[in-house]
Formats: sequence, C-alpha cells, structure tokens
Amino acid sequence: MRIAKFMAAAGVASRRKSEELIRKGMVKVNGSYVYNPATNVNPEIDQIYVSGRKIQIPDEKIYIMLNKPLDCVSTCADDKGRRTVLDYIKGIDQRIYPIGRLDFTTEGLLLLTNDGDLANKLMHPSHEVSKRYYVVVDSYVSPEEIKQLEHGVVIEGGKTAPARIKVMNAQEGRTELTIIIHEGRNRQVRHMFETIDKRVVFLKRISVGDINLGPLKKGEYRFLTKEEINYLKSIK
Ligand code: URA
Repeated sequence: MRIAKFMAAAGVASRRKSEELIRKGMVKVNGSYVYNPATNVNPEIDQIYVSGRKIQIPDEKIYIMLNKPLDCVSTCADDKGRRTVLDYIKGIDQRIYPIGRLDFTTEGLLLLTNDGDLANKLMHPSHEVSKRYYVVVDSYVSPEEIKQLEHGVVIEGGKTAPARIKVMNAQEGRTELTIIIHEGRNRQVRHMFETIDKRVVFLKRISVGDINLGPLKKGEYRFLTKEEINYLKSIK
C-alpha cells in the first residue's frame, strides 16, 4: 500500500496533505525517514511514525455524534488549554477526531470518528454534503436580503454556492432561520450574514446530510446507527 494512502486511512490527513508531510521529512518507516510519497508500506509489518507518533489503521471503526456545547474547540488539542470536544467523550481508548470543525461559539452536531477515509471524503469540497444550521441574527433580515444570501455572496475565498434559507420569524431586532449550505468554509455562516451587515448571535448545526442531531442534549454523544454509517459511506 502507498504510504500516503495508509496515512489517510489512519486519519493523519488527506492523501495530498500526507504526501506533503512525507516530502517535508515528517515521516519515518522502521526508524528511517522517507521522502518519497510513492514508497510502499506493509501495515502488518512496518512501523510508521508521523512527527514521532506511531500511526495505524484502527481495527474497530468508531462513529460518534456529539452535540457540541459552546465554548469548546473542535480540535483534539488546544494550545491555549481550552476545553476540547474530546473532553466530552468518555470511555473510548481509541484515537478519534472530529470530521470538520465548528467554531468555539457554535454548538450542535459534530461527527467524530477514527475512520480516516470517511473523514477525508466528507471534508473534501467535491462531496458537498449539505449542512443545516439554526441561526439567530441580531436584526431584521428582509426577503431581498434572504434572496441575496441564497443566491451567493462574496466572502473570503470567493462567492458562496447557492444556499437554502427558511425564515421562521423575522422582526425588528431579531430574525430566526435555518440555512442549508454545501460548503465548509471558515466561519462561513457568520461571514455570509456580515455581507448584509448582520450579526449572528446564535448558531447551531442541526444536520449533516441526512443525519440529524435530534434530541441529543448539549455535551452528550451517541454512536451512529448502522443506517447512518451506511448512509455516510454511500455518499459519492
Ligand atoms: N459557519 C460558521 O460561521 N461557523 C461554524 O461553526 C459553522 C458554520
């Protein structure tokens, strides 16, 4: 197996990013640095280390949904010592990691796994898995502004792809809505509303594709069902 393929399956990074790590000299096989991404490895025999940490493809795949609370980071470690989403997952001795990110001040559905291939697939822009958010904005958002956002607005990184918005309540000083987007750009929903001079005051992800957060309480997690796992794997 190509070493970059192995690294992606072990959850290190996408294949392309893994190749970069190899070229940068961050990967050792059986005690020696390798620099050629075309190197083949045998996962049964070879000892592979990335930045000094031994990596392996897990025997048992784990798929979890967490209702991420506010004020925790969705990375596995934080250099500022803040609480991470992993602090909420107890009793799992395997290394798991989040599929994508939610901001520190965003709550809601976050998937975690140790299945590197699935994580890389879902995070790749070409898969365009829809994400639905419940949003509260600090002022009235007009139907024209809604159309503008749905059509696409220019934020960092270019124009946003078409979005779908359902307004639940729009009044002076507060608008409540749901938005479905197909991209995962940095702070995308907040930046979209900034383009029409509005501020998002509450943001919660309520679904990823057909997977819904449902009644899971804040800070609680559950394992995905077989159907949910099969659905995620079936996404082309
Ligand atoms: N959009 C945001 O602005 N923040 C998130 O956490 C997710 C989507």
